[in-house]
Amino acid sequence: MASFANPFAGNVPRKITKEELIQAIRLNIAGELEAIYVYDAHVQATDDPVAKKVIADIRDEEKAHVGELMSLLRYLDPKEAEFFAEGEQEVREMLEELNIVEKPVTGKTEGTIGSLIND
Ligand SMILES: [Fe+2]
Repeated sequence: MASFANPFAGNVPRKITKEELIQAIRLNIAGELEAIYVYDAHVQATDDPVAKKVIADIRDEEKAHVGELMSLLRYLDPKEAEFFAEGEQEVREMLEELNIVEKPVTGKTEGTIGSLIND
């Protein structure tokens, strides 16, 4: 996460290379995941219905950001995307062994795991 004590911590004094951009996107994804974790903890920690609703909405927007960044990462690094697909396929095979059917998710991109249901 950004360091608020140093307002220039995120500044880079030059254009970054593609490899550095890919690293930056990975860091951005980690930041989004951390935000989801923290917002979700706050939703669980309060009984205030308005706060729960607003914070849960923000948490879910962060989830969409993860999706955007993952798509960007796949675009920037197709080789890494192959590893993601390989891991997703391994889980699909495990689900098949367990006779668990993957439920399609509206608007999902090809190759994601999605929600699961037991048959
Ligand atoms: Fe975000």
